[in-house]
This record gives sequence, C-alpha cells and structure tokens, in this order.
Amino acid sequence: MLCVSVVVSLYILSRPTTRRLMFGECACGQCVMDLRYDPWFKQRFNPYAQLLLTKKNCVLSNALYLWWQKLQYKSKVNYTMVAEMLFAIFPNEEDYSDAGPGRCRTCAVVGNSGNLKKSHYGPLIDGHDLVIRINKGPTLGYERDVGSKTTHRIIYPESAVDMDNSTHMVLIPFKTVDLQWLISVFTTKHIERTYIPVKPTIKANRDKVMIIHPAFLKYIQERWLLKHGRYPSTGFITLIFALHICDQVSVFGFGADETGNWHHYFEENKHNHNAGNHGGAYEFGLTRVLHAKKGIRLYRGW
Ligand code: C5P
Repeated sequence: MLCVSVVVSLYILSRPTTRRLMFGECACGQCVMDLRYDPWFKQRFNPYAQLLLTKKNCVLSNALYLWWQKLQYKSKVNYTMVAEMLFAIFPNEEDYSDAGPGRCRTCAVVGNSGNLKKSHYGPLIDGHDLVIRINKGPTLGYERDVGSKTTHRIIYPESAVDMDNSTHMVLIPFKTVDLQWLISVFTTKHIERTYIPVKPTIKANRDKVMIIHPAFLKYIQERWLLKHGRYPSTGFITLIFALHICDQVSVFGFGADETGNWHHYFEENKHNHNAGNHGGAYEFGLTRVLHAKKGIRLYRGW
C-alpha cells in the first residue's frame, strides 16, 4: 500500500502542471511565464505563435500572405519557389520548445542605443546563456559596455554584417526578396540590391541560419503593437522572440535620447524613433510595462 502511494506521489510530482504549481514556471526563480495569468500579458502573448519558418509551416494562409506582401516594395519574387529552395539549404528546425519547470534559460537582448556607452554592462551581458544582438551592433572595441558573446544576431539584408561561425544568423524576412537574398548569400552571391545596395555575401554559418516566420511579424504588429507603426522594429521583434524562447529576459541598449533620436553606441547617427515605419514610442512603452510587471528586466544604461 505504502509502495502504491509513493508511486502515485512520484507520478503526481513528475507532472509538469504539479511541478509548476510547486516550483514555478521555470527553474530561474523569476520567469517570463510567471506572467501567464496576467490579463494584460494574456491579451498580447500567444504561446502558440509560430516563431520560425520551417518546411512544415511554410505554406502561408491567404490573409497572412496578403498582409506580408503589403509590407513590401514592388517585387516579383515567387514565394512558393523560394520557400522550396530554402529548406534544401538551411536547417529546418531549431527546437526551443523545451520550456518547463526544470529549465532556466537566461537571455540578453542587446539593442543598439547610445545609452550603452559607459554602461560597463559587458560582463553582465556575457553572463547570459543566449546573447541576442541586433543588426550592425558591433562588439569589437566596445566589449566593456556591450560584452563580446553573440549567440544570435537578428538581421535583414540591408543590416547584415559578418558573424562568427558559432553565431545563429536570424533573418527577419520583411519581404520575399529577403529570402531570395539569403539563398543567394550562401550560393550564387548574385543579389547585390534590394531597394538599396546590399552585401552579396557575408561570413556566417549556414547550418545555424534561422528564419523568422512572417506570421510572427503579423502577430507582433496586431497583438502587441495594435497596429502602431507600419511594422515592428527589429529590436521589438527580437524582444518578443526572446519572450517566447527564454525563461528570463534582460534587455539592454533600448531607448532613444532626450530629443527622441534613435542614437547608436557605435556611431553618430540621426533617426527619429517614430519616423519611418515604426511606432518607437509605443514599442518602448510596452517594454516599460513588461519591465514593471517583471516579465523582463530593462537595463536603462548610462
Ligand atoms: O538602430 P537599429 O535598428 O539597428 O537598433 C536595433 C534596435 O535597438 C532597434 O530596432 C530598437 O528596438 C533598439 N534601439 C533603441 N534605441 C536606440 C537605438 C536602438 O531602442 N537609441
């Protein structure tokens, strides 16, 4: 009898729901998913959102295809043909879906804000399991403030830079030609222009390529941004991506300067955070709410 009750108790303890109730949503102490019953978060976060484009999910619904095409400059690329070629070249799946009470995956999302200058955040950033950098944000020469580790770099053709063999290149396909460019970079190297000149080739590990699903962009634009801006910024996409794949998310290098300029830590630049296609102020507002609710930790820099 004792034996049966021990077995039953062990069984109950081993069930994910019981373990979550007893030990929390992950093994980190504070977990993103601790917010799962928060009404504000529930309205926005979709645990079933498609993150990455794979062979299995690359057929797009009409509604999604139309939405995606509307983001694009005039292009005559045949999506179906491009999608067929993609998964003959690149890995087809990256499994991030191992969340559970026993996992504690910490992630640093590193934006390019000038508030990183003199921050001394380098060691803190490098202490995370995943360090996700964005666009051109360099590390060389800036290690003290931004660290040196890069496990993932999120880019699109116009923002691509060389990366290490160990870094996952994560492409955001804002347009169909971006997928064609990705194929070209690792094969013929013939695409030198989208709507502006782009690098026909970059150093990156083809076995580590990941592609954000267009449905993920639509999900963020509609559920998180409530259609503020035309489409989400690379940084905001990265932040929501991290919410989906990490247990704890620390955010660095986000925030315009006092004049609303989307300044960089590595160059002098002028770009108003609300100008162009993005609702930068709205995005930053959401980032602050996430911080206030302890879904992320926002490091404001210097
Ligand atoms: O400027 P860039 O798009 O390369 O920067 C990457 C991301 O970092 C942006 O998409 C934005 O989310 C964030 N950023 C910011 N404040 C800045 C500069 C960048 O929030 N001053």
